[in-house]
Amino acid sequence: MNIILLGPPGAGKGTQASHLVDDFGMAQLSTGDMLRAARKAGTPLGERVAAVMDSGGLVSDEIVDDLICDKLDSMPDDQGAIFDGYPRTAAQAHSLDKILADRGRTLDFVIELNVDEDALVDRITGRFTCASCGEGYHDRYKLPKVEGVCDNCGSTEFKRRPDDNEETVRTRMAEYRAKTAPILPIYDERGLVRRIDGMQSIDEVTKEIEAIIGKK
Ligand code: AP5
Repeated sequence: MNIILLGPPGAGKGTQASHLVDDFGMAQLSTGDMLRAARKAGTPLGERVAAVMDSGGLVSDEIVDDLICDKLDSMPDDQGAIFDGYPRTAAQAHSLDKILADRGRTLDFVIELNVDEDALVDRITGRFTCASCGEGYHDRYKLPKVEGVCDNCGSTEFKRRPDDNEETVRTRMAEYRAKTAPILPIYDERGLVRRIDGMQSIDEVTKEIEAIIGKK
């Protein structure tokens, strides 16, 4: 099973991908996470993409295509892939077709999370993650069960993303509308798109995604 989770910043792609990793043993291929890891490690790639990411713009197609290839090549052939935040441009969508075909994989679904953009600013500016294991939380919608302690690993250190401020979020949304939303018709024509109301609770969205995947 290979699926794409598509939706604007804050739609819940990362949140839902981590549920699918837990429930189906699939691998999450988040280009945003890969780029942030490169920055944290201080690699030349990380230094090259830092300014673009902090502005809310998109890094080059070649960079993210290469990251996806490397990750797929490190996975067992029979492990399912969840593409989270990739593809984001028509060029990336065409690259993904070739990347999958070269590896004998086929795309099963493109799941679009439909959301109200005004609510997304609230979601994103309230988001924080465990500094140790990366588990995601929110100031109002998903707090740790014990205040200040990660549910997943027990760490007491949390962090917030530098691009999670209102101004950058607005730029990221504009990039989504201009460059990413237009790729949906490519997948609509192939009958692969399934649309979900992403404004439901996290659990309800998970149930709907799992119902779609389970039908395959
Ligand atoms: P990336 O990391 O991909 O960021 P993004 O697409 O802007 O998406 P987010 O991670 O902000 O949102 P999400 O949909 O995963 O939401 P989440 O589940 O966390 O990319 C960052 C940057 O990297 C880009 O700007 C670009 O520069 C670069 N980049 C990455 N990929 C690229 C590519 N392919 N090409 C070019 N450049 C690329 O949820 C958000 C919050 O809401 C959380 O706190 C969560 O708990 C909460 N929440 C989630 N679902 C719900 C719900 N149903 N109800 C209530 N709260 C919810």
